[in-house]
Amino acid sequence: MTQPSLFPDHPPPSAPAEERVLELRRIIAGHDYQYHVLDDPTIDDAEYDSLFRELQSLEEKHPELITPNSPTQRVGGTPSTLTHPQMFGVPTVTGTPRSAFSTLTHRVPMLSLNNAFNDNEVAAFDRRIREALPDFADTIEYDCGVKFDGLAVNLRYENGIFVSGATRGDGVTGEDITSNLRTIASIPLKLNNAPPLLEVRGEVLMRRKDFEILNAQQKERGEKVFANPRNAAAGSLRQLDARVTATRRLTFFAYGIGETDWGSVNPPQTQNALSDYLVTQLFSVGQERTLVRTLQGLLDFYQTVQQKRHQLPYDIDGVVYKLNRFDWQQKIGFVSRAPRFALAHKFPAEEMKSAILDIDVQVGRTGVLTPVARLQPTLVGGVTVTNATLHNEDEIRAKDIHIGDIVMIRRAGDVIPEVTRVIVEERPDNIKSFVMPDRCPVCGSEALRLDGEIATRCTGGLFCPAQRKQAIVHFASRRAMNIDGFGEKIVAQLVDKALVKTPADIYHLRQNDIAQLERMGEKSAANLCAAVEKSKSTSLARFIFALGIRHVGETSARDLAQHFGALEALMSADHETLCAVYDVGDVMAESIRHFFAEPHNAQVIHDLRNAGVHWPDVSAENRAQRQGALSGLTFVLTGTLPTMTRDEATKKIQDAGGKVTAGVSRKTSYILAGDAPGSTLAKAQKLDIPVIDEAQFIELIAHGALQGRSS
Ligand code: IVH
Repeated sequence: MTQPSLFPDHPPPSAPAEERVLELRRIIAGHDYQYHVLDDPTIDDAEYDSLFRELQSLEEKHPELITPNSPTQRVGGTPSTLTHPQMFGVPTVTGTPRSAFSTLTHRVPMLSLNNAFNDNEVAAFDRRIREALPDFADTIEYDCGVKFDGLAVNLRYENGIFVSGATRGDGVTGEDITSNLRTIASIPLKLNNAPPLLEVRGEVLMRRKDFEILNAQQKERGEKVFANPRNAAAGSLRQLDARVTATRRLTFFAYGIGETDWGSVNPPQTQNALSDYLVTQLFSVGQERTLVRTLQGLLDFYQTVQQKRHQLPYDIDGVVYKLNRFDWQQKIGFVSRAPRFALAHKFPAEEMKSAILDIDVQVGRTGVLTPVARLQPTLVGGVTVTNATLHNEDEIRAKDIHIGDIVMIRRAGDVIPEVTRVIVEERPDNIKSFVMPDRCPVCGSEALRLDGEIATRCTGGLFCPAQRKQAIVHFASRRAMNIDGFGEKIVAQLVDKALVKTPADIYHLRQNDIAQLERMGEKSAANLCAAVEKSKSTSLARFIFALGIRHVGETSARDLAQHFGALEALMSADHETLCAVYDVGDVMAESIRHFFAEPHNAQVIHDLRNAGVHWPDVSAENRAQRQGALSGLTFVLTGTLPTMTRDEATKKIQDAGGKVTAGVSRKTSYILAGDAPGSTLAKAQKLDIPVIDEAQFIELIAHGALQGRSS
């Protein structure tokens, strides 16, 4: 895109203040356009800030130069809806909606549109137009655009200057929200080569991204969250204090005009030409625009936009068809309060009212218990919705959802239906609270919500039918029991055919069972059987990892095996004993304890051992080493130590379970440095590896940690 003179070079500092002020306004307006309309800023916030401050300070020195259309006047001397309003010192005000605005009269009324909800209604619209223009039926063109889901406003420009703006109101009388509209950066305050009078009409809305940011901020401050971007835009626009509006990122899209006096400017003759003209005046008109000549063209446009709808950065609720030529629009005229030459073809509503009949709990593949609302069947976005996920306990509390509540539900595109909010005003008397069950509804094992976690999970991992496939795939995986060829597809078939219910069943499979599976020959069945047989001989660490205990990864499994040496010791360990293991914290300890306390799991472990799964004991010597104060640490020695020889130091490290290497690498934990260290020291410092002396080394062996250093 060519942007001829939006960013002229800065004039020399000696230029008179007035010239520089005008220059700065033009530059800033250019960047506002670039940022808010084109979404393509060419400078960063800091540069923008400095231009803005320069303008502010010039205007402070020369107040006579201040005009209402200066960007500094958008709101109390602060640019409006920038990324970081705080950066400009905009106070974070959260005001209340204005109760009374003064009114403004629309000299050309703001009409509404007739709606169509299906293809037949569109066909009827097209037919009526062709019948009204019998001589031109072949040359009729429609301008197609999106129907923005925001708030209609009228912007009045006199001699190119934005003088006032109002809501649609009843179509004739709207509310004067001029100062709020001034804060919206995609509303130009000044037009180029503008006619004497131009009213621009369009829609103020909030992009979904900005809506999410706003709601997150509202939540953080404990303020009310908005149900959807449209409500957020409405709430933001009707603020008594324009500084509040300024902190909300609103956007304006133009689609039409109101009262005009074109003077010597050539007025556009079609809707399409009008949109192009508005673009030259730096308005956004939306990307999805096209001209079509047939009913099929209209319907195709509808389909295309409907498919793209969720990729757009803002909400739309349909498309709008307008007879393109203005003279023909005049000819066709209006019926009551809507034009006959235009039509809104609406998308099915994505948000509808429903009722929560009950709340069930489902168990997912990973054992997470998810509360699901059973809803009064309701048509949303063209599909009947009967269930909506409520995610988790906290979400239910936050949204104050009860069984029996009347709620709004939303289904956007392929997104899973959601309860957006409770209509508290319609709450019946006999509502019931939801309580998360303390047993898994699928297998009856204990359900547990660990500290710091949002999800409640079933602890019967080895036994729970809901978790079967996932648990067995994990059990057989390479780093666990390492059963070669026992992948997802095989597991799915075995589980679906009820040949395998728990991991123990794997060891009772016969070659015949396996051979009858899809895409499984005699040979591969034999191979798989051999792999199962081979996996019986394993290590304690692998076995612990294979159990799939929540939070116990491969490394923790190894540490636990080394620490306890025998499965029985691990199974009977209490919380404190578990926490004594390197890297095991409260949450992991809890998870382990509940896993083994679950009788279903204990039974499966018993069955596995009965089926012949075994491992060698972890030797006492090996365990002692791993348990040493320096276990897991790697040292490099350099220089002469005051009291120890290198060999003595090396032995101490090894006895405490640590390792000594010759060269420094990122894996090195500590450099033990004495007098006259070599180049090792410099290298260590570069890699940011801690360097300790002999005294600290002794402390480390004694306590397993240095005082004041967190390891
Ligand atoms: S044209 C003479 N074009 O829909 C009719 N309206 O239901 C002027 N709207 O009040 C409206 N997007 O707020 C038109 N591309 C669009 C629109 C649009 C949204 C709104 C507008 C109007 C309402 C009518």
